[in-house]
Parts: sequence; structure tokens; C-alpha cells
Amino acid sequence: MQIITSAESLAPVVSNARQHGKSVSFVPTMGALHDGHMSLVRIAHEQSDFVVVSIFVNPLQFGANEDFEEYPRTLQEDAEKLSAANVDVLFAPDVKDVYPHGNQITQHAGSVGETFEGKIRPGHFDGMLTVVARLFDLVRPDISVFGNKDAQQLFLIRQMVENSNHRWNAMQVVGAPIIREEDGLAMSSRNRYLSETERELAQRISRALRAAEATQGDAEARLTAAEQVMATAPAVRLDYVALINPATFEPIEAGFVGRALLIIAAQVGGTRLIDNLSISI
Ligand code: PAF
Repeated sequence: MQIITSAESLAPVVSNARQHGKSVSFVPTMGALHDGHMSLVRIAHEQSDFVVVSIFVNPLQFGANEDFEEYPRTLQEDAEKLSAANVDVLFAPDVKDVYPHGNQITQHAGSVGETFEGKIRPGHFDGMLTVVARLFDLVRPDISVFGNKDAQQLFLIRQMVENSNHRWNAMQVVGAPIIREEDGLAMSSRNRYLSETERELAQRISRALRAAEATQGDAEARLTAAEQVMATAPAVRLDYVALINPATFEPIEAGFVGRALLIIAAQVGGTRLIDNLSISI
């Protein structure tokens, strides 16, 4: 595995792979890699010949009171995991390579970027899309792979690519299934912030999703079932639980039939956790 830290060294390596007829896939991450990330790498390998993974903790997607400084940075450990997974290139750029003209927002997430996660974390999605667009420009992959756990992020990335007038040619955006701990907790780099007690409490989130799935009835009955599970642990502060239409990322309307996405976010101690489940309505 090659470790590349500058934008200008990346381009010839990727071009060389292409000249050898290889298709290129890309897995953008912020590091602190867990099995969820490694599942994205496996999907990238299945769908392409040459796999690039980036590790960059993007300052633009953190709010002023968020955990940018504390965000786990475990580059050495991450590099070992990626090398063992036969990744071709680890791209770990410096902030100056990613933002040579300073930290400027160049992408706007629009109205969907202001709901749910975007309402609680203003500006987060503009910062996230800005870095993803920049990384796509640098890597120019055929395929990019993102986890379904960050459902709103994935929706907005797909929307950006669709509206980009083929800026990244025919790049395909692949969503990967959520990988869970044995107790159901969705894997996240932020899970490492949880104490043992918080970790136990955090299970309520996936249990709430399962309770809603198992409930017969309309959207309201499903949401009530989820809220009831969350209410059994008042220390877990529910930010939102909603049933959204995956095609619009807006709450489903009365009479909706089909697969809806049940999304949830909660605060456990100082840690915000998100999760989701696709359910039939
Ligand atoms: O999901 C993440 O880890 C980040 O939001 C991403 C897509 C790597 C952009 O910084």
C-alpha cells in the first residue's frame, strides 16, 4: 500500500492505475477506522481493481462547539488495517492540500441540508459536501463508497453528484449496509467516547428502531413505539426520530406505502449517535 500525503503525488498514481486498465474506487473517511469502514473497503474491492481510501478530519464539517480537536486520530493503526486489507493507496492529505485557497465552503446542501442532522449541526453538510467534492476532484474515482448509517449525508452526496453536470463523469455512488456491534449499536468512530454505562444505554437506539419495525400500524404507531423505548432511558436524549421518504429525505406523507427510512439521533452523555432502518409501511 502506498501512503500519499500530497494532492500532487496522488494524481499520477491514480492515472497509472487507469492506464493499466484498472477501475478505481474511493472510500473517503475521517480515520479511527472500525469494522464498518473495513466493510466499505471490502465492497470497494468487490467492485473495482484499485482501491483508494482517504483519511482526513475535515475542519469544515465540525461546528464551533463540536469535537474537531478531540476527534480520534489513529493514523498508524488505521494504515496497518488498510494495508492488511490490500488497499492500494492511503491518501492522508494535509489541510493545505485539501484547501489550498483556505477553508472556504464551495458546496451548499440546500433545504435537505437544513433538516434533521443539519438543523442540529448548522453548516455541517455544506462542510461535508465541500470536502467530498474536493476529494472526488483529486481522486476522480469510478466508484465511491459510503456507509448507509449516515443516511442524510449519503442522500446529499448523491444529490450533489446528480446535480453536478457530470463533473465526476459517470462516477457511481454506492451505499453500504450498516455494520453493528453484537448488541445492535451501529458502528461509529464516536462509539469510543462512550463509557461502559453509556455504551449500555446506547443500545436503546437500535432497540427503538427494531421496536418500530415490529409494530403493526401506521407511521404514528411506529414512531410511538420507538419513542417508548427511548423513554425507558431518560439519560439518552432523543434529538429526533422520523420516518422519511428515501427519495426526498422528507417525512413521509399520509397514505405512503413502500419502504420508508426510520431515522433516529440521540445524545448519550456528550456523544451524539445516529442510526436508521429501512422499514415497510
Ligand atoms: O462520513 C465521514 O466520515 C465524513 O463525513 C466524510 C464523508 C469522510 C467527509 O469528511
